Amino acid sequence: MGRLDGKVAIVTGAASGIGRASAILFAREGARVAIVDQNSTGLHETVTAISGDGGEVQSFGADAGKEDEVKAVIAGTLTAFGTLDIVYANAGILGGPTPLLEQTVDEWWRILQTNLLGPFLAIKHAAPHMIKKGRGSIVLTASTAGLRAAAGSAPYSASKAGVVSLAQTAANSLSGTGVRVNAICPGLIESGMTRPMFERARERGTAAKIGQLNPLLRAGAPEEIAAVALFLASEESSYVNGQAFAADGGLTSTLPFTRPIR
Ligand code: NAI
Repeated sequence: MGRLDGKVAIVTGAASGIGRASAILFAREGARVAIVDQNSTGLHETVTAISGDGGEVQSFGADAGKEDEVKAVIAGTLTAFGTLDIVYANAGILGGPTPLLEQTVDEWWRILQTNLLGPFLAIKHAAPHMIKKGRGSIVLTASTAGLRAAAGSAPYSASKAGVVSLAQTAANSLSGTGVRVNAICPGLIESGMTRPMFERARERGTAAKIGQLNPLLRAGAPEEIAAVALFLASEESSYVNGQAFAADGGLTSTLPFTRPIR
């Protein structure tokens, strides 16, 4: 028996990384899955992986930060699968390493639109369908960058801090409806977003240093975040609401320090 048997889930940013791993895991656990991304090639690969496992999947090429496209995805999911139980609003962009005082208004809006407005739109347009059923789980991808500085640019960190707040405020706004909202704060995960950094380190021979700031002394894999998303999406987390979970090898449990030599 699967942990999401009978459920219908939407996963955004599912053409790559954490979203792909989550969509595959949700389908393996019995959910019918609607996957959303702007990258059609990557979406097709995710469809192939899920179908190859015997899962049911519907793909939507859409921008998770645009309201009309989010509405179309939700309508299309209801047409394809008849109901909606879970949304994992995971699509996100990093933006460049431009110094704070050189950043532009356009760059801030671009990052906020996908990373913060996107999760809001997912909640706004998915929750009414869940409220009718009296239950539902919405999971958002924030980041350790939303909890502390120095894990991304200012607009990226601000967008992710906004996602942490959105999980709290949305959970409270949906009080009494049975719809839960939680966020995940991944630490450093090897994915499409971070691959160039991993590749540069491998070329330089410094790959062993990646992740050395957390007590597990390694980076994470998308599947390790998907496992947290599965827990939050499923009924196993039925009393968990309005929380932001760090899945970061312990990175945010520490203060900056010099690790003692053993
Ligand atoms: P990724 O780059 O492998 O996957 C992100 C996916 O989102 C891509 O397929 C991309 O095409 C899609 N996407 C971006 N903007 C979109 C939009 N407007 N509409 C639809 N799809 C869009 O990166 P990863 O790591 O899997 O990222 C997933 C989430 O995890 C993001 O929200 C990211 O900010 C977050 N995150 C990632 C961390 C990491 O170290 N990789 C750490 C903390 C958070």
